[in-house]
Amino acid sequence: MPLVTTTEMFKKAYEGGYAIGAFNVNNMEIVQGITEACAETLSPVILQVSKGARAYANHTYLTKLVEAAVIENPQLPIALHLDHGPDFETCKSCIDGGFTSVMIDGSSLPFEENIKLAKRVVEYAHDHGVVVEAELGTLAGIEDEVCVSAEDSSYTRPEEVEEFVARTGCDSLAIAIGTSHGAYKFKPGTKPQLRFDILEEVAKRLPGFPIVLHGASSVPQNYVEMINQFGGAMPGAIGVPEDQLRQAARMAVCKINIDSDLRLTMTGTIRKYFAEHPSHFDPREYLKPARANIKETVKHKLINVLGCNGKI
Ligand code: G3H
Ligand code: 13P
Ligand code: ZN
Repeated sequence: MPLVTTTEMFKKAYEGGYAIGAFNVNNMEIVQGITEACAETLSPVILQVSKGARAYANHTYLTKLVEAAVIENPQLPIALHLDHGPDFETCKSCIDGGFTSVMIDGSSLPFEENIKLAKRVVEYAHDHGVVVEAELGTLAGIEDEVCVSAEDSSYTRPEEVEEFVARTGCDSLAIAIGTSHGAYKFKPGTKPQLRFDILEEVAKRLPGFPIVLHGASSVPQNYVEMINQFGGAMPGAIGVPEDQLRQAARMAVCKINIDSDLRLTMTGTIRKYFAEHPSHFDPREYLKPARANIKETVKHKLINVLGCNGKI
C-alpha cells in the first residue's frame, strides 16, 4: 500500500487501547531496522523526520529511503511525519514533498499565536490530504536548536485543550505530562512519575481525540552501561519507565515518540564493536549489528510497550 495518514491508525489505536510507535529516522540503517521490526511483528508505524534530520540527510534522500521501505513492505501501514515542524514554510515543504502528516510545534508561543500558526498549517495540510499534530505545553530538553530548561517547561493546562483543538482544527495533540527529550529525563535518585491526572482530564475534555507523547524514550540501561563500558560517558541517563508508557497507551495516547533509545542502541553497539574489533574499518561490519539491535529495540517497544503488534 502507499504511504498512509495517521487517521485510521489512531482511530484503531484509541479504540484498541494501544499506541503507534513514532520513530525518528536519519539514515538507511535506522529505516531498515525499524521497518524490519514492524514487518516481523505486523505493526503499523510512523516514520518521523525532524528539521535536523532533513538538514543532515536531505529531504530527497530521506523520502526515497522511506519510499523504499514502503515498496519492500507493501503489507505495512506506514505514515511519513514531520517531527517538530518549526514554521509554516517547513510544514508546507514537507506537505508538498510527499509527507502524509506534519507537526507544527508552536508550543513555545503564546496561546493565541500558537493557535494562529497551527490553524494556518491545518488549512494548507487538509487541502492537500495531510494531517496535523499540534502541541500545547512545553517539554524540557533539546529540540533542534531550541533548548528548553526544566524551569521553563510547563505541563499542558487541560482547560485550554478544547478551545485549542476547536479553533485550530488539528488532528492530534501533543501534551506535556512530565516527559522530556533526550537521555536525561529525571534526576538520579528521584522517582519518575508522569502526570496521569492531566492526561485523564485532557481525555475527558476531548473524548476520542488522539493524544501524542513526545520525549518517550525509556533509556535502556543495558545500552547506557554498554556505552559507558566502551569509552562513553553518560552517567545518570534515565528515561520514562516502560510501565508508565504502557499505561499512557491504554489511555488516550495514540502516538508515542521514540528517538533517543535508537541513538543509544546504535551508539552502544558501535562502541562495543569498535572496542572488540580494533582492526576493522569496513562500515558495513559495524552498521550491520547496529541495525540488527535497532530492530530488536523496536520489536521490544512494539510488543511490550506500545502493544501495536499484530494490528496491521
Ligand atoms: O524531539 C527531537 C527528536 O529527538 C529529534 O531530534 O532534532 O536532533 O533530530 P533532532
Ligand atoms: P526521546 O528523546 O525521548 O526519544 O523523544 C523523541 C521525540 O519526542 C521526538 O519528537
Ligand atoms: Zn519530540
